[in-house]
Amino acid sequence: MDPRPAWPTSLGPGEILICPSILSADFACLGDDIARVEPEADWIHVDVMDGRYVPNISIGMPVVRAIRPRTRRPLDVHLMIVEPERYVDAFAAAGADLLTVHAEACLHLHRTLQQIRAHGIRAGVSLNPATPLSAVEEVLDDLDLVLLMSVNPGFGGQRFIPSIPGKIRRLREMREARDRSFLIQADGGIGLSNLAMLKSCGLDAAVMGQSIFAAPDPAQAIRDLRACVG
Ligand code: DX5
Ligand code: ZN
Repeated sequence: MDPRPAWPTSLGPGEILICPSILSADFACLGDDIARVEPEADWIHVDVMDGRYVPNISIGMPVVRAIRPRTRRPLDVHLMIVEPERYVDAFAAAGADLLTVHAEACLHLHRTLQQIRAHGIRAGVSLNPATPLSAVEEVLDDLDLVLLMSVNPGFGGQRFIPSIPGKIRRLREMREARDRSFLIQADGGIGLSNLAMLKSCGLDAAVMGQSIFAAPDPAQAIRDLRACVG
């Protein structure tokens, strides 16, 4: 039996994958905070920051390893680190189901995607707001997800950048033109005010930190978010 959770192959018109970002959880009781979102979340999004690729430092492999047995949801690990190829094997061993690297941080992006997939897990590529879609054009066969940053990476609770909906639409067109099936994910500044609009642009998966963990009841916050899309 494949121990890995199933990967969504197609999403219906009102369906969106909701990925709570634990960057906004309480690190002193991370297991409990994950348990609060577990029944409603699709994936658990884990932000790894190295203080070099982004100005902030967050968490690493030991935390991924520690939370792995605390959830049945896929662990969606977003590597905001330089030279991610140095750590891909360790994050895969720690229990990541999806490893997303930044195109801007990879000298040999194609090779790094192959390295991720060799572990039998999914490979994602993230693009900063200023990075054009052409940065992933040549590796569309080698990835399972494209993550469009809708803030500059490094911190939770920032304002959504308004050029991103157009970028999502253009990526969806590129996917259709190439007859590919990778998922389109966005991360940063997403909440009740813009989620339905982003879904209508073609978004498949939304990462949200503050909109979920800053709410008094994070599970209810996810239900409200899902209802505004459906
Ligand atoms: C930012 C991180 C995000 C962050 C999003 O660099 O990649 O995942 O947690 O937080 P919100 O939803 O609060 O903007
Ligand atoms: Zn993230």
